[in-house]
Amino acid sequence: MKMIDAPEIEQQHQQLVSMFERLNDAVRKRESREEIYELIDEVIAYTRLHFATEERIMAQSGYPEIAAHKDKHRQLIDEALHLKEKLNYVGEEMFTEWFNHWPFARVLAHIQYADKQIELHIKQSREKE
Ligand SMILES: [Fe+2]
Ligand SMILES: [Fe+2]
Repeated sequence: MKMIDAPEIEQQHQQLVSMFERLNDAVRKRESREEIYELIDEVIAYTRLHFATEERIMAQSGYPEIAAHKDKHRQLIDEALHLKEKLNYVGEEMFTEWFNHWPFARVLAHIQYADKQIELHIKQSREKE
């Protein structure tokens, strides 16, 4: 029987959400740019790690929508990198406004809908075994 570690995904999602909260907090409290950039880099690095984990699990479980799902991951990372680039050039006043474009909501929606499909697939394959 192949072992698929779906709790790993769940755990990483929780970690990601708490990192988002920390970053949002830092912006709201107007912490230093250095601190904020550091948190942004951490969020992006962790998101990449998480996507890689998820892609490995999708491959292992034979998830049929893997290509489309990987595409969505790439889009979210591109979006984050693009915005990070922009944040370097905006002044204090515009910073918070630009920061509001950070794709948090889209990542959370991705977790709730697209990632949910992977979990369902894993559950169904387990039941068939
Ligand atoms: Fe995910
Ligand atoms: Fe995903």
